[in-house]
Amino acid sequence: MEGRLYIETQGCQMNAYDSARMADALRERLGLERTADPAEADVLLLNTCSIREKAQEKVFSTLGRWRVHKQARPHVVIGVGGCVASQEGEALRRRAPHVDVVFGPQTVHRLPEMIEQVRAAGRAVVDVSFPEIEKFDRLPEPRAEGPTAFVSVMEGCSKYCSFCVVPYTRGEEVSRPLDEVVAEVAALARQGVREVTLLGQNVNAYRGETPDGDAADLALLIHYVAAVDGIDRIRFTTSHPLEMNDELIEAFGEVPELAGFLHLPVQSGSDRILRLMRRGHTAQEYLDIVARLRRARPGLSLSTDFIVGFPGETEADFRATLELIDAAGFDHAFSFAFSPRPGTPAAELPDDVPAAEKKRRLQVLQARVQARFDAVSEAMVGTVQRVLVEGPSRRSPRELCGRTENNRVVNFPGPREAVGRFAEIEVTAALANSLRGRIHSIEETIPNVA
Ligand code: SAM
Ligand code: F3S
Repeated sequence: MEGRLYIETQGCQMNAYDSARMADALRERLGLERTADPAEADVLLLNTCSIREKAQEKVFSTLGRWRVHKQARPHVVIGVGGCVASQEGEALRRRAPHVDVVFGPQTVHRLPEMIEQVRAAGRAVVDVSFPEIEKFDRLPEPRAEGPTAFVSVMEGCSKYCSFCVVPYTRGEEVSRPLDEVVAEVAALARQGVREVTLLGQNVNAYRGETPDGDAADLALLIHYVAAVDGIDRIRFTTSHPLEMNDELIEAFGEVPELAGFLHLPVQSGSDRILRLMRRGHTAQEYLDIVARLRRARPGLSLSTDFIVGFPGETEADFRATLELIDAAGFDHAFSFAFSPRPGTPAAELPDDVPAAEKKRRLQVLQARVQARFDAVSEAMVGTVQRVLVEGPSRRSPRELCGRTENNRVVNFPGPREAVGRFAEIEVTAALANSLRGRIHSIEETIPNVA
């Protein structure tokens, strides 16, 4: 069977990873090639996110728009995956009866069979179960697209923060075995990948089985990945402060391949709110972890997530969050207004911070973080940074782009042959969202590539 596949992805990097794996599986098993135009697709997939209400609403407006494709070409198959699918299951088809396949984050590998079933029987198929980790065993080897790649190492979350749907939509934590992850990284490295980002909803809770039946933690996995020939930069996301064990902190001092950048969500600087959020630590305990990380890796760049307007958050609680920005020295942050999610404990609390006040707090907080971000970018002007050259720049196809260790995009003129190599780049200017630079030197040989 041949045809075209259109995938729209909402939400986190885990979803982006799953979408790429779906495309791989559907190409291999059903011969579907990807298209960027939904009007010419035979299979349309929406990989959904339910972390906040806004994301969830978008699902039904997109599905509404897709109805015309099915009306025009009745053979079209429409599938919905991800967290909204997981949460709604059968109910999703009541609101959008033109959907043929509903699959969850843990059943993406069954998608080719599900689509074949729909085509053969003309009936809808729903499978949002949590069949442990068979997902990874049944997905084809990933195809590298450029010198950077994501590798999912664990699924789900068992932390149950009071505001969050992830444990309900993606299930409890399950880790992939150590040697399977290392084999996937090695396969990517053979295709020219130089930087991997180890992914998981709660990635530092990784406990992967070793061949002799022990459990490897994330620090051990990082040591193994760093030893893979060709892999010269490692990142991981997203972490929980409670899972920053000594070994992982020490890895920042011991593993030069580990980028000096960490995304460590804190959510709030108020101990009272942290308790209501069930984060399991205080603001001071978070700062202690940061201090230990910076002892292991001086100059570590730190990014975080914040929620403002959690139920009962007072002006004093909010000020404590602002104070934490400076105390921790965040370089970057994602920040969100609290959005009550059905089925979570925080949704039972009165959502008592008015929307306008949530918005104001968000703006104040974002301005504070942006000022720190800009100051760091400014201070980088004139310095030489190690950058992995990723490909043509988005702004101008005649330029190249890459990212610094602290995750800033740099655009610079240079030869196409530099792609896939590390280069020393002198930063010449700091713009709002990126840096400009010029090449100082380029690594001469690329490991693994003949
Ligand atoms: N473990 C991952 C993490 O910590 O990033 C996944 C959590 S979620 C995908 C990413 C962020 O969304 C969270 O850190 C939190 O700041 C935010 N978030 C989660 N639930 C939320 C809610 N109900 N309202 C607003 N923001 C929320
Ligand atoms: Fe969500 Fe907290 Fe886990 S934010 S993904 S329940 S660590």
